[in-house]
Amino acid sequence: MNGNGNTRKSPVTIREMTVEDIATVFELGEKLFTSKEVPNLYRSWDDYEVIGLFYDDAEHCFVAEMHDRIVGFVLGTTITKKRSAWKYGYLVWMGIDPIVQRMGVGERLFEWFRDTMLEKGVRMMLVDTEADNTPAIRFFKGLGFGNDEKHIYMTLNLSEKMKKKRKKDAAGSVVGRRRGTT
Ligand SMILES: CC(C)(COP(=O)(O)OP(=O)(O)OC[C@H]1O[C@@H](n2cnc3c(N)ncnc32)[C@H](O)[C@@H]1OP(=O)(O)O)[C@@H](O)C(=O)NCCC(=O)NCCS
Repeated sequence: MNGNGNTRKSPVTIREMTVEDIATVFELGEKLFTSKEVPNLYRSWDDYEVIGLFYDDAEHCFVAEMHDRIVGFVLGTTITKKRSAWKYGYLVWMGIDPIVQRMGVGERLFEWFRDTMLEKGVRMMLVDTEADNTPAIRFFKGLGFGNDEKHIYMTLNLSEKMKKKRKKDAAGSVVGRRRGTT
């Protein structure tokens, strides 16, 4: 699929992502989803994330191009639940190059993604982002998303337990060696 259009005077093309785009999409995401900016993100941006979504769901991954350069991407998937006849469309990652933000590229890309979801029989779309990501929240609300539900993500640091375990394992292997079992 491919769609051309003018985004506030700048021509933008939306097309399906290809394997050749993986590196560019990953690099653009690195600019946008750095661990410094989103330290509490429960899922992190890495090459496995991009490759995994692309290989599992290539038909739900799109890029936006301006002047033959990738300036945005959306990576998604569909979800079906056991006791529900509904199909859900999950927008997992979306990013627009800061150079072209607020030019309507995100809106065009989202509309393309939403129309694809509609074609696939999706009844409800889901998106999640950090509570303090005001630009994204405004963006998604402007596109009609609502019913915000807050989730709390907690962390448990296992460093101390890990140290103890390593000591215990090391002591065990010494005993094992003494007994001649290793
Ligand atoms: C959120 C994001 C995708 C928006 O893309 P964009 O191309 O800049 O968005 P658009 O130009 O289509 O904006 C559409 C509307 O969204 C809202 N919006 C977008 N960016 C905004 C911002 N920084 N502050 C406030 N509202 C904003 C506005 O209502 C805007 O309309 P307007 O420009 O006429 O006021 C982009 O800022 C981005 O890539 N952010 C970093 C990654 C991210 O947070 N992704 C989302 C979670 S996965």
